[in-house]
Amino acid sequence: MTFDRHRRLRRTATMRSMVKETTLSVADLVYPLFVVEGKHIRNEVASMPGVEHVSLDELPKDISDIQELGIPAILLFGVPGAKDDVGSQAYADEGIVQRATKLIKELAPDLLVIADTCLCQYTDHGHCGIIHDGYVDNDESLSLLVKTAVSQAAAGADVIAPSNMMDGFVQAIRQGLDEHGFVDVPIMSYAVKYASSFYGPFRDAAHSTPQFGDRKTYQMDPANRLEALREAVSDVNEGADMLIVKPALSFLDILRDVRNETNVPVVAYNVSGEYAMIKAAAQNGWLSEKETVQEMLTSMKRAGADIIITYFAKDVARWLKEEQ
Ligand code: PBG
Ligand code: ZN
Repeated sequence: MTFDRHRRLRRTATMRSMVKETTLSVADLVYPLFVVEGKHIRNEVASMPGVEHVSLDELPKDISDIQELGIPAILLFGVPGAKDDVGSQAYADEGIVQRATKLIKELAPDLLVIADTCLCQYTDHGHCGIIHDGYVDNDESLSLLVKTAVSQAAAGADVIAPSNMMDGFVQAIRQGLDEHGFVDVPIMSYAVKYASSFYGPFRDAAHSTPQFGDRKTYQMDPANRLEALREAVSDVNEGADMLIVKPALSFLDILRDVRNETNVPVVAYNVSGEYAMIKAAAQNGWLSEKETVQEMLTSMKRAGADIIITYFAKDVARWLKEEQ
């Protein structure tokens, strides 16, 4: 016999679990939460079964569920009541995210609140920055992003997660936070964010579809790999504490590259389209949701993710509990 016997280590469940190289843990998960203006609102997003828009009076129930499941962190998205061309509700002291943050920190001081910092849900044109002559102006957008980040930190956000893909946003936000006394608030940068079709359901959920054009002048071309490394290196040099790769599933090679090339925690964003396609298949009886989701998220960890942002966080937490 000259071949190797790999199956020896696969014979029993106990043996398999001893040689398992990657494990999924609830401690790795971040659950995205959508908060809306109004009262008694709990609306399911049509393209994301199980994901809801929740008004602040309803929020305590969600927060206690999340805590009971042992999920350590949430990523907060706001759906404002009004939009304008400069996205002023993004940085209003009484903006929806600012009020939600204050409330959550009162209800659950230990739950990590990560604030998504962008303008697209708040601008009437739906772009992530300020428009000049039909083009998203980089440097002018930065000052509004800084205002947004500072107001989120002032409301009590534990982590700032800028997702707008302007150049220099990490440096600008780091400086703004420091100047306002928030030196200890880390930045989880959406460093590598592709102009992806997998964001479709999210744009329904966040009402943030661009009203003209697309996001290709600031988000990355899915065909590019070296550019991702340049983005990651810039953000680390500008002071990012953690880096997000987004989407995750079609970009596992990029996750691995970023993991190998940097020494900060890397975050996989399991985006809305990745959620929707599994939900839809599962609802049709075409895939087993529990097994598929666990395989998908384990693959993200195997590819190098330290943390996973996922709409499946509550389901996974429940499944892991049942297995204990
Ligand atoms: C925009 C933003 C997007 C997501 C989060 N913030 C994408 C976009 O519309 O460009 C996507 C999240 C998802 O699809 O789950 N700043
Ligand atoms: Zn945006």
